[in-house]
Formats: sequence, structure tokens, C-alpha cells
Amino acid sequence: MTTTLKEGGGYKFKKLIIEGKTKQVYELADQPDECAVVSKDRITAGDGARAHDLKGKAQISNRTTCKIFELLSAAGIKTSFVREASESIFIARKCDMVPIEWITRRIATGSFLKRHPGVPEHFRFNPPKQETCFKDDENHDPIWSQEQIISANFKLNGLVIGRDEVEIMRRTALLVFEVLEKAWASRDCTLVDMKIEFGVDAKGEILVSDVIDSDSWRLWPAGDKSQMKDKQVYRNLTTVTQADLDTVKRNFSWVADQLQFLIPPTRGRVAVFMGSPSDEEHCRKIKKECDKLNIPCDLRVSSAHKGTEETLNILAEYEGSGEPVVLIAVAGRSNGLGPVLSGNSVFPVINCPPVNSNNISQDIWSSLNVPSGLGCTTVVYPTAAAQAAAQILALNNHMVWASLRAQALNNYVTLKKADKALRQTKE
Ligand SMILES: Nc1ncnc2c1ncn2[C@@H]1O[C@H](COP(=O)(O)OP(=O)(O)OP(=O)(O)O)[C@@H](O)[C@H]1O
Ligand SMILES: [Mg+2]
Repeated sequence: MTTTLKEGGGYKFKKLIIEGKTKQVYELADQPDECAVVSKDRITAGDGARAHDLKGKAQISNRTTCKIFELLSAAGIKTSFVREASESIFIARKCDMVPIEWITRRIATGSFLKRHPGVPEHFRFNPPKQETCFKDDENHDPIWSQEQIISANFKLNGLVIGRDEVEIMRRTALLVFEVLEKAWASRDCTLVDMKIEFGVDAKGEILVSDVIDSDSWRLWPAGDKSQMKDKQVYRNLTTVTQADLDTVKRNFSWVADQLQFLIPPTRGRVAVFMGSPSDEEHCRKIKKECDKLNIPCDLRVSSAHKGTEETLNILAEYEGSGEPVVLIAVAGRSNGLGPVLSGNSVFPVINCPPVNSNNISQDIWSSLNVPSGLGCTTVVYPTAAAQAAAQILALNNHMVWASLRAQALNNYVTLKKADKALRQTKE
């Protein structure tokens, strides 16, 4: 039985837009472009063929979705999530939903094995295998090809879903999977596969939407299927007792508890050493790029030629901090700074001399032609120095890794949109 709410989480509701098996979506009285997503204490499987009330599930699902969307947003992935409103409600951008489930798999299991006889369970897909299903409960969400999606000509909030839009969603689904796979790996959990949905908001922007919770993925602690902590436990039950439901809830709750560790406190830093304060503008460009990637970046002035001892003292500060640090050396003319740092530390050193067309042919050599035993590298552009530093830090910081990947995806989307706009003006 449907209970319609008038308000929740401090928001006044205008009307119920849609109610599904596990949640209600309300229009808000004061924000026409947003909606309230209200989770229900309901668990279902087999397109609704099996369904149970599960007290407390709404809160666990809401907590899970909010944390996952916060993680994706922090990385720079565009989602419909706006904010957590209460224990079982979150506010989202109101979307016209794309009626497609985007499935991404790293490891073969479940329905994939039935559809592809001969492929052993645990077969590893590199890159991950992507599938798309048309959301149609009555026909058990049939698999659709990209051509079928394009040919359906969905028009959502004024946006026609064509080849470009499908490609944007495909790449985004892959990125969401890989970002969450890395995040879960930091808790020694294997993200086996997952599904997401997209919506188109009032501005015609494609956003990762709906929810992402324990119903969305298969999650195997320590890569061990027998320890699975997702809804498959519920799907696999032959009879459903209260004790079984308690186990399912305990698993979901364990997952929600783990999420507080998935966005780690920022670890890793860039320290830009400039030989002279006249190089500040060049260094600020490096810092600006680090800011975009949420990487703390210090600017220090120190000349290895004129104040060698001080340079080594500052280096000792960073060595003693216990934090991973990438050093960027900015020195014009003869670059003693980068090689001195590199020769006295195992921190990675990136030279980024402020070269221009007048001095490049002489000055660059002092960064490139370094004595044996030194491993410093050299880049010319300040943004490239920040990117190279971020890639080093990303090796053991999955949030930096995610930010770099999201930045690349957002660049791709910007180019696609520019290309489309040009094509349309020509037509
Ligand atoms: N931000 C949003 N804006 C508009 N609709 C949304 C938003 N997020 C989710 N929805 C829609 O809310 C509906 C209710 O969700 P629920 O998951 O309970 O449905 P369901 O019974 O599982 O059906 P479905 O198979 O469509 O998911 C879904 O149709 C979903 O697409
Ligand atoms: Mg649903």
C-alpha cells in the first residue's frame, strides 16, 4: 500500500512523481529542478517476483547511496546527487530517466555464464565487459545492443539519445566501475560487477542517476565468492526465513560501515621549489592544476646554488613528514635545484624550468643532462608537471587516480559537445 508523504528531511513535497519497488520520488515545493528520493524498507529480486519488508533497509540503502555519490562527485564525475536530507531521504536533480541499465563486469559470474557457455567463472575481463539492458520488468530487462538504444530515439528533457550520448554513457559507466573498484580494493574487497542508470536533467545534461547501493553490485571480500556481501545472498535463498533476512541486513550494514573509509583523508602532497621569487607566476600555474585535482601543493622559494643548506633543510622537513611527496623544481638558467633535490632524496623530482623560445636551447640541457645516479625527469609545461606529479601520487591514492580519470572523461565530453555544436550549425 502506498503512503504518500507531504514532507521529509526538512523539505516540503509537491507531489509523488513515481513510486517503484524500493523508493518513492517526490517533486519539491520550492526547487522545481530537484526531487526527493525516499528509500523504502523493501527488498526485492527477480524483477519483483520475490519481495520482503526489511526494517532498517531504507536507512542503510540511503547511507550507502549518499556515500557512493559523494565519492563520485569528489572525483569530478557528474551525478544527480545533491545532498543527504535525512536518514532515508536524499535530494537529487530531477531527471528524465534513460530506461537502460548499464552493466560493467570485471569477473564473469551469474547470468553472464549462462549466456556464454564455456566461459569459466572468475574469467577476468580486461577491459571490463559492458552490457546494456532495456528496463522492462515484464520481459526481464532484455539485453540491448548500442544500435537498439540509438534506434529507440529516446528524447529526454529535450535531449535525443544518439550515438554521442550513448558513447558518453558507456565511458562514464566504465569510469564509475573502475573508480569504485579501486575504492573497494582499498578495503580488500573485489567489485565483481555493477549496474548504474543515467538521467537527463532540466538543462539536458547526462548524469549518473538513480541510486548505487548493495543492490547495484556484486562485492566479494578478499575476492572470495563465499563471503559475498551483496543482494545475491538474498537472490540465492530457496526459502526466506527471518534469520536469512537478518543476515542480508547485517551484510548491507557492514557495507555501509565500510564506506566511511572509502574516501581517505588526503594523503600525498606536491612541493614546488622555485629558485627565485620571479618564478612565482609559473609555479602558481602548477598549484592551480593541483587544486583542480584536490592535491595539496606548497610553494617554496629556495636556491640550490645560493642557499644549498636551506634547500636541504626544507627537503628534510618533507622527508620527515611521513607523507608521500612529489617535488617539482622550477629554476631558470642553470637548474641546480632539481638535480640537487634528486641526488639527496628518493622522492620523485620533476624539473619544470621556466623556459621560453629565447633560452630553451641552452637552459633545458641543465635539467636533462644530469649526473649518473639521479632519476629526475623534466617537463616543459606547468600543467604537465602537476599532471605527472598527480600520476605518481595516484599509484597509491585512489581518489587522485579517480580525479585524473574523471578529468580525462570531462575533457572528452567537452570535445564531443563542441563537435556536435559545430555539426548542428553547419546543418
Ligand atoms: N533523480 C531522479 N529523477 C527522477 N526519477 C528518478 C531519479 N532517481 C530515480 N528515479 C526513478 O525512480 C523510480 C523508482 O525507483 P525504484 O528503483 O523503486 O523503481 P523500480 O521498481 O526498481 O523500477 P525500475 O525497474 O524502474 O528501477 C525509478 O523509475 C527510477 O528510475
Ligand atoms: Mg530501480
